[in-house]
Amino acid sequence: MELNIALLGGDGIGPEVLAQAVKCLQAVEENFNHDFTFTEALIGAAAMEKTGSPIPEETIQLCKDSDAVLFGAIGTPEYDNNPEAKVRPEDGLLYLRKELDLFTNIRPIKVFPALINNSPLKRDVIIGTDLVIYRELTSGIYFGEKSLSEDGTVASDQCRYTEKEISRVAHMAFKAAKKRRKKLTLVDKAHVLETSRLWRKVVTNIAESYPDVELTCMYIDNASMLMTLNPSFFDVILADNMFGDILSAQCNVLIGSSGLLPSAAIGTENALFEPIHGSYPQAKGKDIANPIAAILSGALLLQHFGLNEEFNAVVAAVHKSFRKEIVTLDIMGSTKYGTNSVGDFIAENIVDVDDNLNINDENIGLGKSTII
Ligand code: IPM
Ligand code: MN
Repeated sequence: MELNIALLGGDGIGPEVLAQAVKCLQAVEENFNHDFTFTEALIGAAAMEKTGSPIPEETIQLCKDSDAVLFGAIGTPEYDNNPEAKVRPEDGLLYLRKELDLFTNIRPIKVFPALINNSPLKRDVIIGTDLVIYRELTSGIYFGEKSLSEDGTVASDQCRYTEKEISRVAHMAFKAAKKRRKKLTLVDKAHVLETSRLWRKVVTNIAESYPDVELTCMYIDNASMLMTLNPSFFDVILADNMFGDILSAQCNVLIGSSGLLPSAAIGTENALFEPIHGSYPQAKGKDIANPIAAILSGALLLQHFGLNEEFNAVVAAVHKSFRKEIVTLDIMGSTKYGTNSVGDFIAENIVDVDDNLNINDENIGLGKSTII
């Protein structure tokens, strides 16, 4: 398959984790005979420094012309700590989501058996967790009208949804539930928010077209508690932009580290793949960031184009890195491996899923680990 992939490294650890994802996609390209073309472009604070804009026109055009976008991370402390900033790096990503109409954000959360003891939750609670969040990504409070009074003492962010915006992402979630354990939980705040009441009405109506899917409506505060008490309750979660963001961040740490979870943002014409984690500026350039979320985002890209064998090969190589303890610092304090060597190991093992092989990991990091 020929694919043109736009690479937006962004800020903080973004570029270095993205480089590992690219290594893995190149391994897939070689071993499965595909033809991937990668083109880099600027976004976020990195783009602001060079062009003044967090998302230059060139970047938007490249993304539109590409088959898919692979994204790293966005945000720097200078802007986080400056409430006066008129433009922020994050605006680049939000603009891109809107411009490419990436209305469905898919965030799969599945426990990795080898990492079960890394979870802050007890083994019995976390075991078997396998859920996916369908988050609406191009509307709601993120994109509503904003205001700040002239004297700077009153601010507002409007949360607005249309029936159409709710229904298109809801259909995606129901379709996913049909293929999974057939349970869909709509997360909202319908006892307080008018938008949530509209979500309930629209989603409850749509449920009639999916009679084999069981719909539960749950308040976000309850869902957040249940996520810690019994995450296995959930199969598919459907949420608006804000609730989906917060709940997925909670899930992100449940499985053992915030560096593990990938996501896909899908529209009708475009698709973007990105780790759920942030830009982790403290780790930038130190070769300690976990590349797994980025590598798995690359795997989701493959799956999106129907390359299921290739997807499985990447996931198998990731599992192998866990079993062999070729992991970054966040997973194992005593590790001798960094971002690059974990990426090398996974890339080198993408076809080979045979458990019985012994890896001569002495050479990993020099780009020449060998299978003996
Ligand atoms: C995410 C991030 C973004 C969001 C930020 C960086 C704008 O937290 O993708 O989860 O809030 O959507
Ligand atoms: Mn987030």
